[in-house]
Amino acid sequence: MKKLKVELGRYSYEIRVGSGLLARIGLWLKERGFSGKTVIITDTTIEGLYVDDLERGLANTGFDVTILKVPTGEENKTLETAGRLYDDLTEAYAERSTPVLALGGGVIGDLAGFVAATYMRGVPLVQVPTTLLAQVDSSIGGKTAVDHGQLKNIIGVFYQPIMVVADIDTLPTLPEIELANGLAEVIKSAAIGNRNLFNFLDINMNKALEYHPSVLETIVVETARIKAGIVEKDEREAGLRVILNYGHTIGHALEAVSGFRLKHGQAVAIGMMVEAEISSRMGILDGSEVAKLEGIIGKAGLPTEVPDTDKGAIMEAMRHDKKVLQDKVRFVLLRAIGNAFVSDEVDPSLVEEVLVGRG
Ligand SMILES: NC(=O)c1ccc[n+]([C@@H]2O[C@H](COP(=O)([O-])OP(=O)(O)OC[C@H]3O[C@@H](n4cnc5c(N)ncnc54)[C@H](O)[C@@H]3O)[C@@H](O)[C@H]2O)c1
Repeated sequence: MKKLKVELGRYSYEIRVGSGLLARIGLWLKERGFSGKTVIITDTTIEGLYVDDLERGLANTGFDVTILKVPTGEENKTLETAGRLYDDLTEAYAERSTPVLALGGGVIGDLAGFVAATYMRGVPLVQVPTTLLAQVDSSIGGKTAVDHGQLKNIIGVFYQPIMVVADIDTLPTLPEIELANGLAEVIKSAAIGNRNLFNFLDINMNKALEYHPSVLETIVVETARIKAGIVEKDEREAGLRVILNYGHTIGHALEAVSGFRLKHGQAVAIGMMVEAEISSRMGILDGSEVAKLEGIIGKAGLPTEVPDTDKGAIMEAMRHDKKVLQDKVRFVLLRAIGNAFVSDEVDPSLVEEVLVGRG
């Protein structure tokens, strides 16, 4: 097992990554002084896969476990579902000291995190991510949220977990499309912050796609390390944390314009290519770096070309996105692979040109 620390003063916590960890969480909670009740919040897909291991470990250490299930899917990441979970928590007599364990992908992490942050003004939260995306990204950093109306993640709070446990034994059941989705965020993290990880991915992408355990473990550890390092410096996204949005300015717009037919990871992959090309056309990034990025995204089975959609609609969707600051669209650009920065100075006509060129 590998341990990483997220240093946030009194809100610091550990990320534990490895094999066979679900069954050990009960013991770790007991060591931290918890006893009595615990609540697992999960979705109906994970329920049949990983709840038993986690529950058994908790019960064997003397915890009284309540399991709350939410139907699978982003459409359930809402205030209504949160409301039902509050009812269930009160029915289970959950107390201020009752740990809530979020077992699932980013949807469960965000939703259960939001519920844990708000129920009784905050109960201890343990993130137990089961998708690659959740293990490398959403479980770390304390962003919790629900969607509202047409708006994603519009209601939420920053609320740090007391522990993140990424058990890589949960990854083999992940559908290929979800693995690729996570790999898009992994490539993004390497592109903004770690050239060595980028090179590792270049060599080991095929093994990753075959769910090779030690390759996945290295990927999770190194990507989580990048995210943890950024969160430590900028917990509330006042500056540096924005670079985690590399590929997302274009990506979110593409997702919206496709009516969400394009998966998040696919949209981010195209977004990374477009934003790299913008960097190159502005004379900041060498063309050979753009080619390397294209190579690795392709190896992961992710798209690199802009779909044949109305480019004007993409530009319009970008203006509506929350990364617009005082009417300027914010981009994360690359100086090199492993070196990113935020810019408000990208000329919209250049963006449109690159979108057309990659179309
Ligand atoms: N809080 C943050 O910082 C942050 C960052 C990025 C994304 N997010 C959020 O994360 C969500 C997306 O997360 P996601 O990509 O993990 O999607 P998800 O939670 O919807 O999981 C994807 C699918 O995989 C299933 N699944 C999960 N683990 C599995 C496993 N081990 N085996 C088989 N199936 C499994 C789920 O039931 C679901 O059907 C979005 O709501 C997004 O807004 C949050």
